[in-house]
Amino acid sequence: MARPTEPAPSYSKMRLLYEVYYGFRPSKPVFTPEDYPDLTGKTAIVTGCNTGIGLETVKQLYNKNCNVVMVVRTESKGIAARDAILKEYPESKGELNVVGGCDYSDLTLIKGAAQEIKEVLNDQPISIIIHNAGLMASFNNLTSEQGYELMFQTNDLGPQLLQHFLDPLFLKKDSALKRIVWVSSGAHLLGPKEYGIFWDNPTFKDAPIESRPAAAVLYGQSKSGNILQASAWAIKNKKIVDEINCVSTSCYPGNLNTDLQRDWSWIQRVLLSRLMWDGKYGAYSELYGALYPHLDSRDQGAYICPFGEIHDPREDLKAGLKNGTDLAFWDFVEKTIQPFF
Ligand SMILES: NC(=O)c1ccc[n+]([C@@H]2O[C@H](COP(=O)([O-])OP(=O)(O)OC[C@H]3O[C@@H](n4cnc5c(N)ncnc54)[C@H](OP(=O)(O)O)[C@@H]3O)[C@@H](O)[C@H]2O)c1
Repeated sequence: MARPTEPAPSYSKMRLLYEVYYGFRPSKPVFTPEDYPDLTGKTAIVTGCNTGIGLETVKQLYNKNCNVVMVVRTESKGIAARDAILKEYPESKGELNVVGGCDYSDLTLIKGAAQEIKEVLNDQPISIIIHNAGLMASFNNLTSEQGYELMFQTNDLGPQLLQHFLDPLFLKKDSALKRIVWVSSGAHLLGPKEYGIFWDNPTFKDAPIESRPAAAVLYGQSKSGNILQASAWAIKNKKIVDEINCVSTSCYPGNLNTDLQRDWSWIQRVLLSRLMWDGKYGAYSELYGALYPHLDSRDQGAYICPFGEIHDPREDLKAGLKNGTDLAFWDFVEKTIQPFF
């Protein structure tokens, strides 16, 4: 695969420790639902929103009269979530539609799901895309239908493939609000030391399971990838992005009690859940990327931290956003997903 052209700078372990601490004790959110604009007539796509942070994010968008397409892998879970939101916000003038079957563990399914999104939208342009769906597994041996390591496929290949299909509707000039949020994590700090990516074979395709690192490192790689994708998407589409003022950011939503930790042992859950925050705080972080009015082209590829402020990612990734490593990663993913266009 294409590799970074510059060696990755080293990073300070003290800073890593500080960022881990910050994830558990972040600053208070400063941009919260009272500050969100009215979203009448705007359309948002949120993936993985039948539960957790995505569900909270959809609630806040819908409460501001947004038309939200809830993209999920299991339709019945999406419908149950939609019905609960409709009950909770009876005053909203927005719309909620559910598109099921967007299961990133099989890339052959994504084109069909994207087609369904287009039919639901009936050619209306999209204002906001939040790539929220994600997998954090406790095991390093999970493999997708395509033979790729499952966290990499779910967190990097799937979202970039869906974005490919949504670009024509997103890159239409319609309103001043054009945002993409690639949901990353503070766990990118655990990714491998060369810009967070195992450049020799990030998907671990055909590699023996024993050659895979620990699950946390694989998750860290996939979340480093999201930071690179946020920046690379904006560079790849620079001409039109500048014309219509899109802003593409990555976001570490926080350390939150959600279903993400579904395969942790009960003891892990009991101990760590005391330190973690309610999922709605994660929505504040994601919606900072989607709605904060003062983001502009200078914030392209910015890394949003809980609960809505911009930090630098790990030192090597920060450098990678300036020296073309983001594009090398994007091109690798693009080549991998091309058979599914
Ligand atoms: N919670 C945290 O502390 C935390 C911290 C940092 C980053 N994040 C990131 O925030 C995002 C949301 O996480 P969350 O905490 O809300 O987790 P969650 O409650 O587990 O929700 C994850 C969502 O992703 C969906 N998903 C999982 N695998 C999928 C696949 N193969 N294809 C399509 N969708 C899939 C899930 O669908 P099902 O319900 O059908 O499984 C669910 O809707 C993720 O990207 C996660 O990495 C979370």
